[in-house]
Amino acid sequence: MKILVIGTGAREHALVHALAADSDVDELHAAPGNAGIAAEAKVHPLDLTDPTAAPDLAAQLRVDLVVVGPEGPLVLGVADHLRAAGFATFGPSAAAARLEGSKAFAKDVMASAGVPTAMAHVCDSLAEVEVAFDQFGAPYVVKDDGLAAGKGVVVTGDRTDALEHARECLAKDGGRVVVEEFLDGPEVSLFCLTDGETVVPLQPAQDFKRVFDGDLGPNTGGMGAYSPLPWAPDDLVADVVARVVQPTVDELRHRGTPFVGVVYAGLALTSRGLRVIEFNARFGDPETQVVLARLRTPLAHVLLAAATGHLADLEDLRWRDGAAVTVVIAAENYPGTPVTGRVVQGLDAAAEVDGAYVLHAGTKLAAYQTVVSSGGRVLSVVGVGADLAEARARAYDAVDLVVLPGSHFRSDIALAAELGEITVP
Ligand code: AMP
Ligand code: GLY
Repeated sequence: MKILVIGTGAREHALVHALAADSDVDELHAAPGNAGIAAEAKVHPLDLTDPTAAPDLAAQLRVDLVVVGPEGPLVLGVADHLRAAGFATFGPSAAAARLEGSKAFAKDVMASAGVPTAMAHVCDSLAEVEVAFDQFGAPYVVKDDGLAAGKGVVVTGDRTDALEHARECLAKDGGRVVVEEFLDGPEVSLFCLTDGETVVPLQPAQDFKRVFDGDLGPNTGGMGAYSPLPWAPDDLVADVVARVVQPTVDELRHRGTPFVGVVYAGLALTSRGLRVIEFNARFGDPETQVVLARLRTPLAHVLLAAATGHLADLEDLRWRDGAAVTVVIAAENYPGTPVTGRVVQGLDAAAEVDGAYVLHAGTKLAAYQTVVSSGGRVLSVVGVGADLAEARARAYDAVDLVVLPGSHFRSDIALAAELGEITVP
């Protein structure tokens, strides 16, 4: 099989890494990729803001499957263009990707499908925001309606800060905000593959959204993740499929916009039960790094089955015992404007740590094969082991060998889970 993976992050590197290990894959291409992806796939330039460019590249490479990583091109319709040109494509149409692209749309789908989620008000003015704040009380949850790379959400007890965020979102062209009730309880990310009808869940993971240890500081795209979740109820996955993902997939199909690809359910296990925090229309980053680290079933035909409507025929997925932990190394000043263009060293030493490997996110190759930083999240270091403690120790051993001036990472990824400190209210 010849496959093209679209995207530039560590999520795409994880996909490429898994596909490269699959003996069914004869040719692996990526666009635009990064320095790490270039070591495992042939990389090609691609303008991710032009959804019509991908079919040309796919045709030139004569691939059998295109896997779209990021939400931006999906919301712009890259999967529609690829399918119209006859390519099997793993990724939803623009219409179905609105599940992520508009929080208001997602709320509407959930209401129709009877999916449990936070109560919410879609607001077009500050006066409406004030009314919603009065109804829900503190802590205040304010979300930009559109795509914001994980940074459009403010959760704060400070009403002035919450109002300020709402004002900024509303000031954008066509700006709308969603104000929600606060959800307590631990968060879970569950990815479910779907061909529009059949739903195949992967293993759950937990993401660390805040930039600093102890869940302090602003939200980021994600600073680390681990899987499995030793504290989660045994029936969690079956429950999420039955009450959340299957009804959502069915609702989108009934609306005439079937969802093909991966539904990412971001969930809170609250004192009042399971609630959806958000949907994404793609694999999560960095959770994909740990979920794929544990998948034993070769990935290519699984993604092809989803892309071509054959998930019902797929054998049960097989998983490795043990655990995986990933730690993101971020550039100076991330999640603000990151400092880029710095040389990354120690990658070879880190890769030699037993049970660890380094996935690249914002990196590119400079002269003399030097790797330099080119984005906010620069690397995603993965450790696998018999349990969370071992996976965690291996990931951090490798992290400690990477040298990137000014960079930062969280030191508490998977720590509370390892110590058995997470409880479901
Ligand atoms: P989102 O972009 O909707 O996933 O939100 C980003 C992060 O903000 C989530 O992972 C949560 O940590 C937090 N968050 C979002 N919505 C809520 C909510 N209703 N209650 C509490 N925390 C939330
Ligand atoms: N890990 C969060 C995201 O991918 O949106």
